[in-house]
Amino acid sequence: MKILVTGGAGFIGSHTVVELLQSGYEVVVVDNLSIGKREAVDAACKIAGKEAEFIHLDLTDEQATISIIGKIKPDAVIHFAAYKSVPESLSEPLTYYRNNMISGINILQAMYKSSCKTMIFSSSATVYGENPNIPFDEDTPLNPVSPYGRTKSHYEAVLHDFCIAHKDFTAIALRYFNPVGAHESGFLGEDPLGVPGNLLPYVTQVAIGRREKVFVYGNDYDTPDGTGIRDYLHVTDLALGHLAALDWATDNQGFEVFNLGRGEGASVLQILRSVEKACGRKLPYEIVSRRPGDVPASVCKAEKAATVLGWKAKMNIDKICQDAWNWQKINPEGFNPHYAVDGLPSTLTAQNGFKEK
Ligand code: WQD
Repeated sequence: MKILVTGGAGFIGSHTVVELLQSGYEVVVVDNLSIGKREAVDAACKIAGKEAEFIHLDLTDEQATISIIGKIKPDAVIHFAAYKSVPESLSEPLTYYRNNMISGINILQAMYKSSCKTMIFSSSATVYGENPNIPFDEDTPLNPVSPYGRTKSHYEAVLHDFCIAHKDFTAIALRYFNPVGAHESGFLGEDPLGVPGNLLPYVTQVAIGRREKVFVYGNDYDTPDGTGIRDYLHVTDLALGHLAALDWATDNQGFEVFNLGRGEGASVLQILRSVEKACGRKLPYEIVSRRPGDVPASVCKAEKAATVLGWKAKMNIDKICQDAWNWQKINPEGFNPHYAVDGLPSTLTAQNGFKEK
């Protein structure tokens, strides 16, 4: 089977490419490299020991999308390509609606024209917004509080309506909680552009000496240690969730939604402590004010994916943080070829007293 992976040069997309290749799928990646990196696709192929075709494509270009999908003729599409920063979407809503919605409509139209009838869509738990009734199941009311979150919920509605109009089509929306970590090989991981907006890559950059300290966004939430709680899941577990959804789509039509998470919450300070355990030293941090738009807690009810897809996240917080640290230790500057894979440059060890654990 040939799987087209849009956004396959991104964090979750490239980890999914590894698992698809290792499971014997033929893989074609399309990406405009606005966020993702070509090195991530190369690393995925290196880990899998197999090749994936890469095509540079901007999905907002309707004709190019129709033409290229018509040539590729995929059996299914896993659609990751989207902008994904909540704060950025608040300041640039039109950029987000144009990119995320038009890309999604163009890929769906191109699939229809080339008789490709299966889509796995990268949705997000952000669609639930702020809701005190955790854990969230798939029937929890949608209440996204950012343009980013609304591009996800609106596109789910596009897929739902498309499946009503085309009974032989299958669309599965996977609502991710907090994807984190790195491939256990250390060759592939999260490599955010600029200053990481997300917690775990920021913490590992502090651990490697690229950043001075962790800023904890508030410790006055109604949670056990006062810091925000999230349902963190290993990116490899998440990638395997896409393969489980592909299997299920083989025998099922229509629109379906699944939450993908561990079903357990962890606080900011718990993540910090786990990375300290992984890197073998205390990490400096400062409690600052809450970040606008943050919800106190977001935790998944994971039963539906377990019973229907037969998928369950296997890796715990310590394994997640060990793999995240292992990636950062081997790749201090991410995919920057400046640093040797097998060691740290002297500047980092001297500056920060970095000691191998
Ligand atoms: C986690 C916790 C912060 C950074 C998620 C996805 C994100 C996006 C929206 C994907 C929160 C705290 C964070 C820091 C901190 N889109 N924090 N210091 O907010 O759940 O966002 O949904 O679908 O990609 O990750 O994840 O990692 O930003 O924050 O204290 O420097 O860590 O307040 O409690 P979040 P996050």
